Order: sequence, then structure tokens, then C-alpha cells
Amino acid sequence: MASKIAVIGTGYVGLTTGACLAHMGHDVVCADIDEAKVDALNSGEIPILEDGLENLVVEGRRAGRLRFVVGAANAVGDREFVYLCVPTPQGDDGSADLSYIEAAAREIGPVLAPEAIVINKSTVPVGSTRVVEHALQRGDVSVVSNPEFLREGSAVHDFLNPDRVVIGAVDQAAAIRMAGLYIGLTAPIMVTDPASAETIKYASNAFLATKISFVNAVAAVCEAVGADVNDVVLGMGYDRRIGQEFLKPGPGWGGSCFPKDTVALVHIAEQAGYDFRLLKGVVDVNNEQFERVVRKVVAAVGGDVAGRHIAAWGLTFKARTDDTRMSPAIEVIKRLQALGAEVTAYDPAIRMDIEGITVAPDAITACKGAELLMVLTEWDEFKWVDLDEVGQQMTNRRLVDTRNLLDRSRAQVSGFEYQGIGRS
Ligand code: UDX
Repeated sequence: MASKIAVIGTGYVGLTTGACLAHMGHDVVCADIDEAKVDALNSGEIPILEDGLENLVVEGRRAGRLRFVVGAANAVGDREFVYLCVPTPQGDDGSADLSYIEAAAREIGPVLAPEAIVINKSTVPVGSTRVVEHALQRGDVSVVSNPEFLREGSAVHDFLNPDRVVIGAVDQAAAIRMAGLYIGLTAPIMVTDPASAETIKYASNAFLATKISFVNAVAAVCEAVGADVNDVVLGMGYDRRIGQEFLKPGPGWGGSCFPKDTVALVHIAEQAGYDFRLLKGVVDVNNEQFERVVRKVVAAVGGDVAGRHIAAWGLTFKARTDDTRMSPAIEVIKRLQALGAEVTAYDPAIRMDIEGITVAPDAITACKGAELLMVLTEWDEFKWVDLDEVGQQMTNRRLVDTRNLLDRSRAQVSGFEYQGIGRS
């Protein structure tokens, strides 16, 4: 059955949520405080690169099931369900900053329809459901936690094909009403209390980050003992208790979620009296990974990068997104620049210079005059670039492939000194 829904916040999570719910047949109004963004969305412009999202927005608008308005209060008047999808950035002490979520709740409280359900989709510390309830000041309105598990780049796919839907609610009737919104999705729906739902989100992201830090640490061991991490992961992954997923070594993890969510969980645990040393180690290993890549590059050019020209393929924090927030690629480049290196980058999703980094129009041009090429993001198109042509642009054929993306033997045939991650 179609429901009337409002979505507050049109970032990655809000826009995907709104467009997918409209696609599922619901009547959706999305609100944002940014007037220019709302105007753009109302004229069919999508501010982010997200596979399949534009089609869903066009489809929803055409069908009259998806609208965009300025201001949360203007969206909620007749809505049965209101999703909060506003940012929860990292505060100064590592904790999640709830000011946006509280402000949105205070704004909609007086104008919510009777017995509406407010759904918290933002990643929030345990206990935040109570914070929202308090800010709303509405005894007839239930607040439910419904964390998102969307990966940027495949957010639409993940929303429509979730591994699970988690609903955290005290009010069981609200949980059942809410579960009704997801009829048609073939995923287990788990109903639990709000604190558990909120913890599931943090624990899931922290565990995924742990897997990556673990494999990056194993990659360091592989380099030291002469093993190949790709084979090690393959061999481990056949054990069904381990699996192959999320065990790709790289330059470290980044993005808008893992860095802030891991630190936030350490902080949540600390506040509750538990010293989460394991997770602190996971964060430390990640910071070390950026430095390991830098050291590899410095060593490859003979010990000093000052004044040396280096090419970088990839700026986004992973492929198939245009998001550069907390990007390991940018972190590595900045560290090399701090050592005096001159870096020219290319990324299929980034067209202009960014954060003091010169951006070339294509992969070959980025390599002009460079004496080393780094692969920092795993864009497919890098695999198909002609390495002979690349080599002709460079003063030295050196390659540091931090994603183990390129074919090592092909690179070697083209005369490159190839170094991957965790491969001797
Ligand atoms: C993540 C979670 O996957 C998602 O469920 C949550 O809701 C939001 O945070 P996202 O930030 O989009 O999603 O990126 P993800 O695909 O998880 O990758 C995170 C980082 O880990 C990237 O920097 C990526 O390159 C890195 N990564 C991922 C690896 O280095 N190796 C891997 O095997 C997987």
C-alpha cells in the first residue's frame, strides 16, 4: 500500500531513500535547507554520481510521486512517515555531532501530522532515538531507528536489494507499520530495540573496516615474507566462515562513513566505560597504511621525492563515485606533496583541480614527464589504458599499484618496475 512519506535531507542517503521509496510506489516529498539544491533537483539535475539514481528521480517526478521542497517543516504536514537523513559529522572529541538532527526534529515537531512515525536513518550514537523524541516534544509520535547500509556507487541497488532491514523501536505497532513500507523487498526484516539497531550500524561498519585493516596488515606480512596477498585472500576466502568479500588490500579505507563511524564507536565505548582497543588498532593500522604507501613511493624513486614529478590515477575514495571525502588517494597525495613531490592526478569523476592537486584531463596526460605512476582508486578504465603509451610519456617506468588493479605481467612487459600491495 502506498504511504505518504517525507525525507529530510537530500544527501546520498536521503536522495537515494526518497527516490527508491517513490520507485516502490510511495508518495514522497524530500526536503533540504539548500534552496539551490532543491531548485536543481526540481529541474531534474542530480548533484551526485550514483548509479541508477537519475533514472529513479526522473521516473518519480514524472509519475508525480516525488517532489522536492525547501525546509523540513514544509514537507511533513500530511505525512505518515518522516525519514531523518541529515548529516552527523564528527565532533571535536570524535563523537557524532547531533546538532543537525536535533534542529530538524525541533523544526518538524510542531507541524507533524497526528501519530506520524519519525524514522532515524542518520548514523547516530546509541540513545539518539531519545534525543529525537525529546526534540520533537510530541507524545503521539513514535521515533524508530532504521539504519542505512548503502554503499556509495551502488546505493540504489543496495536500497532495493538489501541484505537486511533493521528496525529499532519501542512501540511495536510503529515497527509493524514501518515494516509495511518495505513490502516487495525480499530481505529479512529484523525488529529490535533502538539501542540495538543503532549499535548494529556502528558495529557493521567497524567490522568491515576491521576486515580491510586486517587484510592490509596481512599484506604487510606478505611483503616481508615473500607471499602474495591475492593468493592468501583467495585461499582464506574459500573457508565459508571467512568469505572473499571486503578483503581487498588497498591504500587504506576512507569515505564519509568508515572514518567517522569507527572513531565514534571508540568514543561511544569509552563513554560507556569500555576501552575498545581492537578498534583503535584498526584505525591506527589504517593511518599507517597511508604512510606505508608514501614510503613505498619514496623508496621507489630512490629515497627523496622533493621536486620529483609523480602521476596519480584516482582521487575519489573508491571507484564509481565522485566523492572525495576522506579519500585515501588524496591523503597519500597530500603527504607526498608535503615531502616536496609534484603530483598530477587524473580521475574519471573529477574534472577540476581539487585541494591543491593539479588534475589532468585524461590518464595519459597525467603521466607526462612523471617518473612514477601511482594507482590509487580502482576505476575499471585504468585497466584498459595502453601502458606502452603511458610509458612513452614518462621519464621512468615505475608503477606503484595500491589497488593491485593492473596486470602485473603486462606492466612488466611494457618495461615498468611494478609494485603492488602485499605482493613480493
Ligand atoms: C560503507 C558501508 O559499506 C555501507 O554499508 C555504509 O552504509 C556506509 O559506509 P561506503 O562508504 O560507500 O559504504 O564504501 P565501501 O564500499 O564500504 O568502502 C569503504 C572504503 O573501504 C573505501 O575506501 C574502499 O576503497 C575501501 N575498501 C573496501 C577496501 O580497501 N577494500 C575492500 O575490500 C573494500
